[in-house]
Amino acid sequence: MVALEQDRTAGLALEVQSVSHAFDLHGAPLPVLDDVSLRAEPGEFVALLGPSGCGKSTLLRQVAGLEPPRAGRLTADGAPIAGPHPSRVVVFQDPTLYPWRTVWDNVALGLEAQGRLKANRGRVEEALRLVGLDKFAKAYPHQLSGGMAQRAALARALVNDPRLLVLDEPLGKLDSLTRIAMQGEIVRLWRDAGFTALLVTHDVEEALLMATKVVVFSERPARIKAEIAIDRPYPRHRDDPVLVDLRHRVLELLGLAESW
Ligand SMILES: Nc1ncnc2c1ncn2[C@@H]1O[C@H](COP(=O)(O)OP(=O)(O)OP(=O)(O)O)[C@@H](O)[C@H]1O
Ligand SMILES: [Mg+2]
Repeated sequence: MVALEQDRTAGLALEVQSVSHAFDLHGAPLPVLDDVSLRAEPGEFVALLGPSGCGKSTLLRQVAGLEPPRAGRLTADGAPIAGPHPSRVVVFQDPTLYPWRTVWDNVALGLEAQGRLKANRGRVEEALRLVGLDKFAKAYPHQLSGGMAQRAALARALVNDPRLLVLDEPLGKLDSLTRIAMQGEIVRLWRDAGFTALLVTHDVEEALLMATKVVVFSERPARIKAEIAIDRPYPRHRDDPVLVDLRHRVLELLGLAESW
């Protein structure tokens, strides 16, 4: 396995306090978040689960500082989140790579912008190896599959020493084998580097394998239905009876117990 040599940056404390949000849809308000409060302690790995369209990505955009909530507040280490910050790195649901830059140059983007590329070229290569794209360093985004593009976006996030890594279904487009490998890699990286992680996923098993805490949302407008601490050692195994029990409980909370 390849290790990404990360400066040991401690994770930050994220707090979401009574956040509510609505969009305007055809002149009427569309409530999306309803009094959501949650906390991620430094170094914690929090997974968010909830029905499609309930408001998860909206909450992540607010954590990223891209959109202020209509009510409530968000803080990072106690300071209000008022805009994007390099310590909070987001991998979006649809990875956007610059089509005119090679994979290498896309991954190097953050370091380049901070003037730190020259001393850190090795990290770009390590990140590419980590996501299995070292052979495609010189390829352009249109020469990648969807899953490869997503892995490139993940590598781009990882070289930036996040104190909070926000992942919006980063593994959604991966085939199941790569997905399992990447779940393990992300957990290993998180444990090595100590950042705080916030992951949105549709995959209950993925949440249970990776996170220290799982938050289950209701249908839109998203309300917190349950917060479940996953107090199991890593590496975890999907057939761990505790996780199997939790999986049933979470599926029940999501209203899917009958279908599994
Ligand atoms: N900019 C916007 N303007 C209007 N409505 C929006 C906007 N962004 C999101 N919405 C609406 O807000 C709701 C929540 O969207 P969001 O993307 O947060 O859901 P989600 O939980 O991430 O869903 P999924 O799991 O499918 O990604 C949806 O009904 C969506 O149509
Ligand atoms: Mg989403």
